[in-house]
Amino acid sequence: MTEKRIACIGAGYVGGPTMAVIAMKCPQYKVTVADISEARIAAWQTDDLPIYEPGLLEVVQAGRGRNLFFSTDIPGAIREADIVFVSVNTPTKTFGDGAGKAADLQYWERVAREILRVSTSPKIVVEKSTLPVKTAHIMETILNANNNGVKFEVISNPEFLAEGTAIQDLLDPDRVLIGSRETPSGLKARQEIVDIYANWVPRERILTSNVWSAELSKLAANAFLAQRISSINSISALCERTEANVKEVARAIGMDARIGPRFLNASVGFGGSCFKKDILNLVYICESYGLQEVARYWQAVLDINEYQEKRFVRAMIRGMFNTIVGKRIALFGFAFKADTSDTRESPAIYVARDLLEEQAHVVVTDPKALENARKDLAGYAENLEFVEDPYEAARGAHAVAIMTEWDVYRSLDWERIYRSMEKPAFLFDGRDIVDYKHVYDLGFNVYPLGSPAMKHF
Ligand code: UDX
Ligand code: UDX
Repeated sequence: MTEKRIACIGAGYVGGPTMAVIAMKCPQYKVTVADISEARIAAWQTDDLPIYEPGLLEVVQAGRGRNLFFSTDIPGAIREADIVFVSVNTPTKTFGDGAGKAADLQYWERVAREILRVSTSPKIVVEKSTLPVKTAHIMETILNANNNGVKFEVISNPEFLAEGTAIQDLLDPDRVLIGSRETPSGLKARQEIVDIYANWVPRERILTSNVWSAELSKLAANAFLAQRISSINSISALCERTEANVKEVARAIGMDARIGPRFLNASVGFGGSCFKKDILNLVYICESYGLQEVARYWQAVLDINEYQEKRFVRAMIRGMFNTIVGKRIALFGFAFKADTSDTRESPAIYVARDLLEEQAHVVVTDPKALENARKDLAGYAENLEFVEDPYEAARGAHAVAIMTEWDVYRSLDWERIYRSMEKPAFLFDGRDIVDYKHVYDLGFNVYPLGSPAMKHF
């Protein structure tokens, strides 16, 4: 018997995996994921899923056709559901007031109006997308602008999954956060959502809070995570000048239990669809409440990230005798992190563009993200190649630059790569994954991230 009917609007990186896990863990519910994109929905119905995520296919296959359905019929999915999750995208606004900072809520509002238009029975509307704090209030206002007696409760249930580990994060989350109004009907709706997760998440990891705390916690969590990366990246710049080694520093500080060892990998910069967007959003909200000092504090996290990308490219140009015109440079990795095909805000995009502006010849290789890389670099037809095999990509290159920490790049035959390259050969490691001493001994001029360059001249 179907106990609950759940709809999710938005079949993206968040909506798709989250609903697939709910369907797998709760066979007693019917879960329908709806999206305006016909191509996306069609792909969810095949084994060639629209996103790459380890373990996702098995989870989808377990539920698909049984209690997990994919559809473009958004009104139909809403109408029959008791609970509607909304995980449509909320990109940074590109126009008008707040352009470049505020969240663009047009898709969200459109979905809210659609829910209002088609609903004939009461529903719980769940914010899954990351939204500015106080958005639930706007949603309530829109949803309660009806006069047909249908009641809606708005719940904030932000998603903390990281790409590449989405399934693991969903199956075994550090915590699930569910925020609601603290009215009798709000608390009842909160309990309904708690009941979903209680099917597989230990009760003590399901946190409840007021709706504004839940909304803000998501922005704050992403801001804190990004801040750690900017902190270690800022230290990496100092390490390169002082013969300190950022890995050793990260290890030493991370063993302090108060700091903790995770998320201290220096890199060419953080990417992904969330960190930049959410911090910009936080900055915008702070500014709009007149909290200029707080806004500036978080803005600095983004400034360091941009500095880190620029610094990486500058080191390449300087290292290669102040000109890279016509030089073949192989970018190893284009995804914003390992184990995903996603390239949104990937530092590789910015590095590739900067190198192309310098008139280098850029060769991009990546195990999963070449299709997205092609789209990101559309418009740069000249001096640009996409090659699947990293050994082929490096052949005849002056330099290899590691952009993504894919496991395959940790165990490459660097001797073979070195032999096929132009000399002097350069290796710029934007992810700090190569055994520097080994590759230096092979003949490479090595630019590790977070420790001084090792040159043969
Ligand atoms: C989204 C949001 O971007 C992010 O703010 C939030 O933190 C999590 O949800 P993601 O799932 O990665 O992240 O986005 P994306 O992969 O772009 O998926 C959104 C889906 O919504 C797309 O498939 C899009 O077609 C769909 N959509 C968008 C609708 O169905 N209707 C709309 O009106 C707009
Ligand atoms: C992030 C949050 O982790 C997740 O909780 C939230 O729901 C969405 O945003 P995601 O962007 O998918 O998830 O990946 P994450 O693992 O956080 O990595 C983000 C970026 O930071 C990547 O570019 C990654 O390479 C980089 N990173 C991460 C570092 O440079 N160093 C680190 O130590 C960790």
